[in-house]
Amino acid sequence: MAYNLLKGKKGIIFGALDEKSIAWRTALRCHEEGAQLVLTNAPVALRMGEINKLAEAVNAPVIGADVTNMDDLKNLFEGAMKHFDGKIDFVLHSVGMSLNVRKNKPYTEIDYGFNQKTLDISAMSLHRVLRTAWDLDALSDWGSVVALTYIAAQRVFPDYNEMADAKALLEGVARNFGYHYGVKKKVRINTISQSPTQTTAGSGVKGFDGFISYAEKMSPLGNASADQCADYCVTLFSDLTKMVTMQNLFHDGGFSFTGVTQAVIEQMGK
Ligand code: NAI
Repeated sequence: MAYNLLKGKKGIIFGALDEKSIAWRTALRCHEEGAQLVLTNAPVALRMGEINKLAEAVNAPVIGADVTNMDDLKNLFEGAMKHFDGKIDFVLHSVGMSLNVRKNKPYTEIDYGFNQKTLDISAMSLHRVLRTAWDLDALSDWGSVVALTYIAAQRVFPDYNEMADAKALLEGVARNFGYHYGVKKKVRINTISQSPTQTTAGSGVKGFDGFISYAEKMSPLGNASADQCADYCVTLFSDLTKMVTMQNLFHDGGFSFTGVTQAVIEQMGK
């Protein structure tokens, strides 16, 4: 059901790779709620061509940008403002990549060169995006920026590897830039800490299937889906959450505050 919550709003969506991507689901929901969109992803992801299907469905242009490249980001924000003929009301940062996970390097043996790239792509990219918007004065007053994170930033999930540190840094950037952008322009910046979700990035984590069913058993409401995450993003982009900023918001069916569940106790007793 659509409520026109984003009627007249204009947003940039980073990170729609295929139809499972959280960004893909969010773009569809934002479109349903009346938003105008610009889609972006890394040039290498655009070559897959999938994003063109989404672009058609939500009637949005695609502007490529590697989130670690400031020239690309400037070109993206300038292109988006030109397309919208005005400023941008919301941004979804749905980007993550771990080189050490890809190369099967355990946490205790990471390659530091890979690690720097991981932190740049998955965390400092939020700073780069915000800095670009800040320098170009590209966001409307009371604009809203959301980045996606995972609870491994607070608790240890051994196979999440260096991404746990990347997510902790990402949440720090959201909080600190949230202060400055709040004071300057009333722009709000939050992270959503999402349940494990079957996507390309998610499935890259070792033992992901076990991980997902454990979280399902440990959450009173079960795991939150990508579509439910998209709904939550819509509320944060809407005017109904104007005073929410600098927060890490758990969207995980209650997992983060559950010590143990009956289902897990029964499983352990087997
Ligand atoms: P996904 O694989 O569909 O999306 C990740 C996106 O990052 C891809 O579109 C990829 O092209 C993009 N990307 C990678 N390097 C880039 C670069 N240099 N420049 C621009 N874009 C780049 O997977 P998913 O799950 O939708 O991931 C979205 C976000 O949600 C990520 O931040 C992820 O860590 C986070 N998240 C995912 C969870 C899961 O279990 N799937 C759980 C909690 C958070």
